[in-house]
Amino acid sequence: MTEVTELIRLAYEAQKRAYTPYSGFQTGAALEAADGRIFTGCNIENAAYTPTNCAERTAFFKAVSEGASSFKRIAVVGNYPGKKGDYCAPCGVCRQVMREFCDPESFQVILARGPEDYKIFLLKELLPESFGPADLKL
Ligand code: THU
Repeated sequence: MTEVTELIRLAYEAQKRAYTPYSGFQTGAALEAADGRIFTGCNIENAAYTPTNCAERTAFFKAVSEGASSFKRIAVVGNYPGKKGDYCAPCGVCRQVMREFCDPESFQVILARGPEDYKIFLLKELLPESFGPADLKL
């Protein structure tokens, strides 16, 4: 299993590729799949604003499109370039995407504001009383 600090390092690496001409706020994520693969993502903004994709969803969509279907945890970082910033909590849309593919009882969301400065939440803490795949069985 990858070290938490290594996942955070990979999130910071991905953050360098953020495309943020509108907000300037740069995010990075590193998602660890159950099979050990790691998928990274950055935020990708758009002139029409709403097509903007967060770092977390970039990582999830890369992973699912590459055949990963079970996940352990994700590290997330975000700040303005050159500023230290604080923990970057996932937006509601990203939490719901996590909910689609992860067990809320065990999936860990690692929020880092430095290479070794982080806190860990379970998905169920960030998205309580959630709606998920099992609620739509026919
Ligand atoms: N953003 C993320 O990528 N992840 C988050 O958890 C919060 C927000 C991005 C979206 C947008 O490009 C910028 O940060 C400002 O909202």
